[in-house]
Amino acid sequence: MLIIRKIHKWASIIVGIQFLLWLVSGIFFNTMDHTKAMGHSYKNHAHQHVEFNQSLFADPVVVLNSNRASISLTHTQLLGKPYYLLTHTKALYKNFKNDYTLVDAYTGESTIIDAQHATEIAKQSYSGPGDLVSVKTLQYPMDDFPKQQNAVWQINFSDDINTSVYIEVGSGRVVGHSDDDKRFADIFFMLHFMDYGSEGSFNNVQIILFAFVTLWLAFTGLIWTIDLGFRGQYKIKALAGTQKIKLFDKHQKSMGNITLSTHSNLLDGLIEHDIALPSSCGGGGTCGRCKVMITPPAKITSADHQHFSDGELQQGYRLACQHFSNDVQNMTLIDVTDAQKHTLTLTANQFISPTIKELRFQVKDVNKLNYKAGAFMRFFIPASTGISIPLNLPEQHKPHWQHIEHLEYEHLACTRNYSLSESSLSSDELVFTIKIQAAPHNDVLPGVGSNYLCNLHPGDSVDAIGPFEEFFAKRNSTKTMVLLGAGSGMAPLKSLISEQIALTNANQQQTRDMHFFYGARQEHDLLYADEFYRLAKSNEHFHYYPTLSKPNEDWLGSTGYVQQILQLNLSTMGDVTNIEFYLCGPQALMTETIDLLKANGVEDNQIAFDLFS
Ligand code: FES
Repeated sequence: MLIIRKIHKWASIIVGIQFLLWLVSGIFFNTMDHTKAMGHSYKNHAHQHVEFNQSLFADPVVVLNSNRASISLTHTQLLGKPYYLLTHTKALYKNFKNDYTLVDAYTGESTIIDAQHATEIAKQSYSGPGDLVSVKTLQYPMDDFPKQQNAVWQINFSDDINTSVYIEVGSGRVVGHSDDDKRFADIFFMLHFMDYGSEGSFNNVQIILFAFVTLWLAFTGLIWTIDLGFRGQYKIKALAGTQKIKLFDKHQKSMGNITLSTHSNLLDGLIEHDIALPSSCGGGGTCGRCKVMITPPAKITSADHQHFSDGELQQGYRLACQHFSNDVQNMTLIDVTDAQKHTLTLTANQFISPTIKELRFQVKDVNKLNYKAGAFMRFFIPASTGISIPLNLPEQHKPHWQHIEHLEYEHLACTRNYSLSESSLSSDELVFTIKIQAAPHNDVLPGVGSNYLCNLHPGDSVDAIGPFEEFFAKRNSTKTMVLLGAGSGMAPLKSLISEQIALTNANQQQTRDMHFFYGARQEHDLLYADEFYRLAKSNEHFHYYPTLSKPNEDWLGSTGYVQQILQLNLSTMGDVTNIEFYLCGPQALMTETIDLLKANGVEDNQIAFDLFS
């Protein structure tokens, strides 16, 4: 679909520009003075037609026989004198290539329209105040009369609008007048008829190409619209059907019926009925948390295959985020959370590194949400227009975005999960640390959720469901905590640290040793570094290990990958069975760290991790 959307976008730009030109030139045609637009401001419209005694004319048969082969002989008059006009080659129109001979009607002698003769004819046709300036011959093509294919005399006058009179060399015919007014109007004719090659014709190659571009615009728009329709983007309530579903709890006890609109995603549809299934991937089909059992058996998706055995699939186990209401008549909920839908209002939005922002929200109609540190919220991102470079980028962060091309893009509605970076014990607001995901290249969209949220303004609202508590510190434990993360994996770990400090300060638990390993590329990527340095200085139980993978020369701290620094320090922390490990970061970091811990005798139940992807 990306290529279809790209073609549609570029086609709409081309068609849009031409529509604008049609609009502007159309308005001009309606308001212009037509006499001026035709170049007739100084045209003499008085026609002098003289009757001649044709018996005095040379015999036309003799004239025809004494000249080149002709296909017609007609009478004409120039400057009050009669002529025969012999046509040797006749085209469809006068301005097409024709071949004439002009013959004096009295003497039968052929006549050439020379500069002097052309000037006299032009003067007779001209009524302006100007004097003769210059006379020259022009061949096809000529700017003022692009359709004129026969050679002409151009006679120029010195008036206020630079009038030129054109006389056809072969016939002495006045081809037309041109002046600055006509030349200005010709620009609008060129724009209106897309005659960018000055061919003087509507049937030009640009118009034909434009018709193809318009066809592509319509064709790609149709495909895009159908695609959006299939993805449930258009929900016309009056037309939408509904599907009644019988719900059961995991003990097969009836929970009653719910009604979902047909084609609504089961994970999202249940939320409309205040039923939140667990999910840490936001509906991406990767976490395997949103399990339900449905009948009749629905088509098995590849994500279902990854998370269920053949036996479970046969029983009807499916991932709710991968199926739609029209697949289902009965649904058993395997696991349900207490999470609820809330409207959040943004109170603050600030950069804390070149690519990461801290967003603070208040919950509408609720004083405060209580949750365990490490929890996350699932945001409902509406269909919208996004931009590839964040708004209000501070001057010092601009170099980090220089290589990103400025793009605007449309995105569909979706859900995205973000971890809270403060515990509810330390803040009344919901605080998030969100990395603005840039697109790796122009063929894929930037992170839709992060770009949408990070471009919100204070006062804006967004819906979210949660908090979901799936990654949290064990309560009533006295074991040492080792926390390790990188990038925006900071959020849940910072939340855990603040919760531990708050619990200890409130004498609700014994002081625990905490070792915080945090990896970043450069010093400006070390989030909240001052806060953690201060905490490490004031609290002997907190130890901070900032580590840079691409440090500047003046960096005096640890360098390399953060898991390597953990390995170097692990033996100094005593018996590993007395340590709990909390990890949050990208897949590669998690895998390497877990392998390292296991190689050092750490058991699975000592490791909690929050994988973001
Ligand atoms: S698999 Fe994660 S929400 Fe469905």
